[in-house]
Amino acid sequence: MADTLSVTDNRTGKQYEIPIKDGVIRATDLRQIKAGTDDAGLMTYDPAFMNTAACRSRITYIDGDKGILEYRGHPIEQLAEHSTYLETAYLILFGELPTSAQLASWTHDITQHTMLHENIKKLMEGFQYDAHPMGVFLSTVGAFSTFYPDAKNIFDEQSRKKQIHRLIAKVPTIAAYAFRHSIGRPYNQPDNELSFTGNFLNMLFKMTELKYKVPPALERALDVLFILHADHEQNCSTSAMRAIGSSQVDPYSAMAGAAAALYGPLHGGANEAVLRMLAEIGSIDNVPGFIKRVKAGEGRLMGFGHRIYKSYDPRAKIIKRTADEVFEVTGTNPLLKIAIELERIALQDDYFVTRKLYPNVDFYSGLIYEAMKFPVTMFPVLFAIPRTAGWIAQWEEMILDPEQKIARPRQIYTGSARRDYVPIEKRK
Ligand code: CMC
Repeated sequence: MADTLSVTDNRTGKQYEIPIKDGVIRATDLRQIKAGTDDAGLMTYDPAFMNTAACRSRITYIDGDKGILEYRGHPIEQLAEHSTYLETAYLILFGELPTSAQLASWTHDITQHTMLHENIKKLMEGFQYDAHPMGVFLSTVGAFSTFYPDAKNIFDEQSRKKQIHRLIAKVPTIAAYAFRHSIGRPYNQPDNELSFTGNFLNMLFKMTELKYKVPPALERALDVLFILHADHEQNCSTSAMRAIGSSQVDPYSAMAGAAAALYGPLHGGANEAVLRMLAEIGSIDNVPGFIKRVKAGEGRLMGFGHRIYKSYDPRAKIIKRTADEVFEVTGTNPLLKIAIELERIALQDDYFVTRKLYPNVDFYSGLIYEAMKFPVTMFPVLFAIPRTAGWIAQWEEMILDPEQKIARPRQIYTGSARRDYVPIEKRK
């Protein structure tokens, strides 16, 4: 059997053989199909890229029907159980789990870059006290491009490596400073004797004590959450990272755009939206009424549904377990009962079942963050910190892919036909 697609253009009666490779046809192979001599050729129309592969990638594999997520072939469940965020970030960025020596050197390199330039701190101080930390985060990442102009050398491997170290190391510091700024407390310097997440907790929550005592259960829970959020193949923010990066701009500018995409309530802002939704529902008694309104099209059940997963999001399963471990330390979150009731009803309701809407990564993560005393505005920032590994791995893969060019989709023009300029006094 030939790996081709036979196409008959009924407008002309002509036949075409389109090669199929790796289960796809090349959209540009359709350009030869023309209705007439002035026809530019057939295009595909795919708003929101529902069925278009824009790259080849070796980083993350998802099977949405089976609920499988793997980084570089390693199942997310195994990484969540045995790995750390820094080790997983190494795996995502460099393709293999590190040896002990490689992990020690990687950890050293990241630890060396945790501090922020004093002028970056000053820049952050310029924000209003009530500035959303995600707005502060994405602006500060963008501003990095002015502090590290060497990042423009995107085809220099050593330069790329340096920006990778800076980005992975500095995002928790930016996030922590954005948080401290919002509550009017002084910034805490990074403590390089602590783990990646231990130091992050230190920069967030240390008060007058000389040495911050990291709560081990929370340190591990945050690490697991960071592993789960580290990459998710061609999602909205990663596609933004690749599209902006395809103009060959520096990675900080590209990542500011990726973080902006993550900010939206349909993407990384969903965990914040879930918490607001649960608070608005207020009590279990109000759950049936809320579900009724969602089914009537008055708003969405936030934290449910996914473009790719049409079964239970594997990350949501792990997060549910992690939530129990965190609540043992912090005490349970009163909104948990509402979330469990929403899930119970939704999983047996025809509306959600037929549309294959299951809890996604954001449904329970916000409850954990809230129990850990993060304000809701920090939730998308907590997503952005680990996703940095995925963004820059995907960006570097794109930079090194000889098939990639500047991203430039086509359009179907539906506006006015050519018409003449009318002087203003003659316009109706
Ligand atoms: N609540 C109620 N109905 C929903 C929901 C929801 N959360 N999600 C989808 N639907 C319905 C939607 O109305 C549509 O129904 P119909 O066919 O009758 O018009 C059908 O399900 C298909 O939805 P869609 O909007 O075409 O699906 P999509 O693939 O474009 O959207 C999504 C995916 C994640 C944006 C969407 O499910 C959603 O808005 N969910 C809530 C927000 C959320 O939790 N986002 C986090 C995603 S996971 C983490 C991340 O990527 O950042």
